[in-house]
Amino acid sequence: MTTTHDSGTYRPPAPGRPDIRQRTLRTDRWWLPPLANALGLATFVVYATIRSLWGSAYYVAEYHYLSPFYSPCVSASCIPEASHLGQWFGEMPWFLPYALVSLPFLLGFRLTCYYYRKAYYRAFWASPPACAVAEPHAKYTGETRLPLILQNAHRYFFYVAFAISILNTYDMVLAFQSTDPATGQTSFGLGLGTLILLINVIGLWLYTLSCHSCRHVTGGRLKHFSKHPVRYKIWTSISKLNTRHMLFAWLTIGTLILTDFYVMLVASGTISDLRIVN
Ligand code: FES
Repeated sequence: MTTTHDSGTYRPPAPGRPDIRQRTLRTDRWWLPPLANALGLATFVVYATIRSLWGSAYYVAEYHYLSPFYSPCVSASCIPEASHLGQWFGEMPWFLPYALVSLPFLLGFRLTCYYYRKAYYRAFWASPPACAVAEPHAKYTGETRLPLILQNAHRYFFYVAFAISILNTYDMVLAFQSTDPATGQTSFGLGLGTLILLINVIGLWLYTLSCHSCRHVTGGRLKHFSKHPVRYKIWTSISKLNTRHMLFAWLTIGTLILTDFYVMLVASGTISDLRIVN
């Protein structure tokens, strides 16, 4: 027996599966979450691409605010004060981001993230678009072939992302200073920008630590939790965070855009930073 689906595909029903001719029997608005995901992810990708290549308004020297899209800034194109780790390369051509050493790993970390996979497989590949909605593809090979087999590299991206989160934390700590442009003296300072950077770093840690690979690193492959009480304790805490990984994934998309946007506004002189101390 063969089945013609309402999507126009012609497909024999799998053995033992009911012969349902409609693509789905769902009557709710199942298309709404994938549509919202597609819009949210596309907005982030477009914004991050434009800003990463923008090449200006990413650093506020007076308050030591560095946009996360430019950290670490290690080329000769960077403002010297923004190069916390020194300048390792010459000038960057316009089509390469200043944060060339970190962005590919951060992109890889998010692209291979278990939650984002679910979101973009549904939103962009319709594979499947939602629960109980047949996908339009005739064949399903899962993540067993190139390029999707590369999703297995997620744990390695996690290690690098962990190191980059430490770097973002360092950038945030530096933002608790202000430098007097007249005297060049630096002292403790706190502004709205500092708080925004702080919130962003907290969000990035929540997202990174709630990663499924982090959960595995802390408690995976243990045969007896009772023999590893410290790792068990950490694993339990990570597991609690892990249940909110989707929330942190979206939260950090928002905080990354907000942080960069605020730094851009202050760095370009469009607004002044709201200072709380100094
Ligand atoms: Fe999402 Fe690792 S970052 S699962």
